[in-house]
Amino acid sequence: MPPLKALQWAALVVPNLLAQLPCGASATETQFVLQPPIDPGNGRSLVTSQRRLHGRFLHITDLHPDEHYQPHTSTEEDIACHRGNGPAGIYGAETSDCDSPMSLVNATLAWVKENLRDEIDFVVWTGDSARHDSDERMPRHNKDILAMNRRIAGAFVDTFSDDKGLIVPVVPTFGNNDIYPHNILLPGPNDILQTYTSIWKPFIPEAQRHSFEFGGWFYVEVIPNKLAVFSLNTMYFFDRNAGIDDCVHPSEPGYKHFEWLRVQLDFLRSRGMKAMLMGHVPPARTAGKQLWEETCWQKYTLWLQQYRDVITGSLYGHMNIDHFLLQDTHEIDMALISASASGKGGASVRGAMEEKLSIQSSADYLRELRDHWAKLPSPVALEQDVDEAKKRRRKGKKDKDKFGGKWAERFQLTLISPSVVPNYFPSLRVFEYNITGLEDSSTWADATRAAQLDEALPGDEEAPDVGELKRSEVPDFETEKKKKKKGKKPPEDPNLHLPDPPSKGTPPGPAYLPQTLSLLGYTQYYANLTYINNDLVAGSEDEDGDDDDAAARGWNPGKHKGQTPKHGKPQPRAFGFEVEYSTFDDEIYGLDDLTVKNYVRLAHRIGQASKKAKSLADDDGDEIDEYDEDEDEDSDPDIRGFTKGGKHKKNKKKKHKKEKALKTWLHFLKHAFVSTRSKEELEGL
Ligand SMILES: *[C@@H]1O[C@H](CO)[C@@H](O)[C@H](O)[C@H]1NC(C)=O
Ligand SMILES: *[C@@H]1O[C@H](CO)[C@@H](O)[C@H](O)[C@H]1NC(C)=O
Ligand SMILES: *[C@@H]1O[C@H](CO)[C@@H](O)[C@H](O)[C@H]1NC(C)=O
Repeated sequence: MPPLKALQWAALVVPNLLAQLPCGASATETQFVLQPPIDPGNGRSLVTSQRRLHGRFLHITDLHPDEHYQPHTSTEEDIACHRGNGPAGIYGAETSDCDSPMSLVNATLAWVKENLRDEIDFVVWTGDSARHDSDERMPRHNKDILAMNRRIAGAFVDTFSDDKGLIVPVVPTFGNNDIYPHNILLPGPNDILQTYTSIWKPFIPEAQRHSFEFGGWFYVEVIPNKLAVFSLNTMYFFDRNAGIDDCVHPSEPGYKHFEWLRVQLDFLRSRGMKAMLMGHVPPARTAGKQLWEETCWQKYTLWLQQYRDVITGSLYGHMNIDHFLLQDTHEIDMALISASASGKGGASVRGAMEEKLSIQSSADYLRELRDHWAKLPSPVALEQDVDEAKKRRRKGKKDKDKFGGKWAERFQLTLISPSVVPNYFPSLRVFEYNITGLEDSSTWADATRAAQLDEALPGDEEAPDVGELKRSEVPDFETEKKKKKKGKKPPEDPNLHLPDPPSKGTPPGPAYLPQTLSLLGYTQYYANLTYINNDLVAGSEDEDGDDDDAAARGWNPGKHKGQTPKHGKPQPRAFGFEVEYSTFDDEIYGLDDLTVKNYVRLAHRIGQASKKAKSLADDDGDEIDEYDEDEDEDSDPDIRGFTKGGKHKKNKKKKHKKEKALKTWLHFLKHAFVSTRSKEELEGL
């Protein structure tokens, strides 16, 4: 449909829709009804929200609300919980590919309001707030997608507001299902971007609405003058977006996106601020498959390397499974980043990833990640203290260089949260971050409300236009020690503006070295819908729920396929989320904090469960075995019995290491599928 129509439609229909909002909030209205300060001498304190930072924030993603969902309908393909009889629960059909009933979205936000709203500093909301197109009898229309997004945006405003309006900043982004036709977003400005400027008006800072209409990107200073969350429009990086080509030609929106990001991150760096990146489609890339167009992945990885002093973390959704990625800066290929060299985008050997991943293909994908991690160098060098490193100077130094120094700056971490839509169980993630020294910082609500009172305030927060900042266009390859195997410098490309690296002497950024604004850990919450829906006999799960047939067709009818609900009318238990796991006390993950170095260690350990690791270990197994891979290993009684040298010890240790790796891998898989699968089921994947 021509996008113009959609806009006209939205203008006509929105008043109607607002009347139907379950929560009665409108995202289009001005959110702040403010009283003038009574005491002009102390105006600011009169308008502060009384809020202090908590050092916590919420990541919520992939709600996929479906107003056509009906309880006790069929979870089968092409029916999608819209008709027929079947096990679909009142709060959703867990483990199936059905979308979320409104009751689940409603109950989730109600739970968040009750339990989290007053404990968090901001919300990262990574998109897909419309249903899938999974029922031919009920095709999606643009107007429905926008209407649902408007409704959900209103529900977010309601959830995170006090009586004066939004009190917790919410940062949304597009999902590939938030646009019509899905996956296709043309370069801006266009009607979709214009419509979302209105839908997300309460969330997008006024000074950035113009650039949002242009590209669908913006950032929010969630802690004024300290931390900004960057909403990346990953539709312009997404391989499946037929409306774009690459990220290297200046006419491409992806190119412009990186230009914008470069200028903004320079600006933040000059202000001594930090940035958190968020988006919907993650930069997933395995040996065979990838989600982003290759030149976009290349530029992103280079940008993150250059701004490693500024970026605190990168959070994504879309995949529905709980996992993480490591981008390796050794895979940066300057020839691909330079448009003049690559012609029309970089040819990639990787195929596009499937639209919907069955549990089997998700497991295949995770196994590909694991096999890649099997090739990580042993992180022993990262563990060594200075003395030990000196003792083994040559080897130690070599090993450290493999990681880009002791903080593993060769790598970048992408954290991907599982979804609210119950492809497994509905899930939420609450991060904790270091706020040392920021305890008394003014909050977003303080700043926003103060600004509302004084519209004449000089626009000191205003972002510079793209291109305004002066910059060097030739990167300093010497200080960056970028020894490319290909050796040659890429040909001059007048359109290539590379970001500056951190200036000499800058300490590692918060993603690498624990400091203020570093991510400390997260708690993963889930709602056990099998228990809450209270409709199905536990343990009588249909063995064929995830059979190969279903996987092959790309539709998963779920674990309860074929079961009949035990109540004629749903009799759910009280809805609520509970803790699935927390990185703070998860002994298998053993993550002291969420710095890259800790994830490199974890990834390496998971990688050791791969067959690929075995052949690798045979190559330089002795070298690896010389060290204690894990700090806690010696305290393990199984190991302590073998403290005397010799082959026996070595073999035992190797076996133990393998077992430990397998255990970590299964733990990782269990979480990937939000604890919906038993150990036996996971072992069979
Ligand atoms: C949403 O929640 C509110 C209050 O929690 C309730 O009154 C309303 O009926 C709910 N709507 C749906 C569709 O579940
Ligand atoms: C938090 O940051 C402060 C200041 O940089 C640092 O001293 C402290 O060790 C950090 N805390 C943690 C738990 O990493
Ligand atoms: C979810 O609830 C069902 C039914 O009570 C129970 O059998 C299952 O073990 C629970 N799963 C988890 C991960 O708690």
